[in-house]
Amino acid sequence: MSPFSKQTTEPDKVRVRLYRFDPAVDRTPRYEAYEVPHTPRMRIMDVLNYVHENMAVDFGYRWLCSAKKCGTCAVNVNGSPKLACWEEAELEMTIEPLSGMQVIRDLVTSRDAFEALLATLSPTLVRKAEYRGFPEPLTAIQLAPTAHLRDCIQCLACQSVCPVLKQPDSGFAGPALLVALSELAQDPRDGGDRARLAGEVAQVFKCVSCYECERVCPVDIPIVGEAIEPLKRLVYQAGVVPGARHARAFLDVVKARGYLNAAVLALKTKGLTLNALRLALRLVPRGKIDLGKAFLKRGAPGAKVISKTYESSEEVK
Ligand code: SF4
Ligand code: SF4
Ligand code: FES
Repeated sequence: MSPFSKQTTEPDKVRVRLYRFDPAVDRTPRYEAYEVPHTPRMRIMDVLNYVHENMAVDFGYRWLCSAKKCGTCAVNVNGSPKLACWEEAELEMTIEPLSGMQVIRDLVTSRDAFEALLATLSPTLVRKAEYRGFPEPLTAIQLAPTAHLRDCIQCLACQSVCPVLKQPDSGFAGPALLVALSELAQDPRDGGDRARLAGEVAQVFKCVSCYECERVCPVDIPIVGEAIEPLKRLVYQAGVVPGARHARAFLDVVKARGYLNAAVLALKTKGLTLNALRLALRLVPRGKIDLGKAFLKRGAPGAKVISKTYESSEEVK
């Protein structure tokens, strides 16, 4: 074949293993294998439709818009979340429900836990001033910080990969809920107590900034930078939760001394408690805490420059 001629042979089939589980009748999940005729530009959804229409009429999956708008068709394909209606089919696929979700049947997962938590976050505008009719007096500059957040289709792909949500009873709301909350918190019309909701209810400081959620978001929302960090800043400024106290103390200590002094950080975050004293007594002999350094307010070389850098960055904000 000439190196310039195009490969024209289309693969003739797709091999797919589908997760099957009906909690009402099955004790454990199983996988069923199917071979589906391949067609050009075939989407994952086309494969699921073919199986449902020709091979397994009882197979459960979900979709609505077929156009990357409703977020209902997200499934795990070969271990990674994908929108079935939008992504191209691979020739070999194992398709499972999104991880960490309760299965209703086969690929259909329950959204109840997500919707219930969303309801606790006052997910609509709490207006500072009475609505005066359309058009609202908003400028493009006021709307810019939430422009990407408004693209969220609540597919929950990000929730399914968040490592913090995988911890039992983490109490963390997860990235999709933080996107919804941040959109409201950054809306100039909103007067809701978003700092308290983000800090206490959504527990935003549990986010470890691993960026897994951004990696899988099908609409490329900068979740950490444009949703989570603004919420952390809001909670930090309001100082409503211990996580915020820790962040504030961290900055204060580095700003004052030019380095992180663990003893002073613990003292500022937790206060002088019996447990803190016990911990300190264990850490001093191991050299983890230098008492001289901790309580003599000595700065590191260059501390003044660090302090000035902090002050100028605060002025920019
Ligand atoms: S942030 Fe992205 S991944 Fe998460 S729910 Fe919204 S669209 Fe889906
Ligand atoms: S960046 Fe935060 S919210 Fe996103 S996956 Fe990591 S821990 Fe979860
Ligand atoms: S069916 Fe609506 S996003 Fe896929």
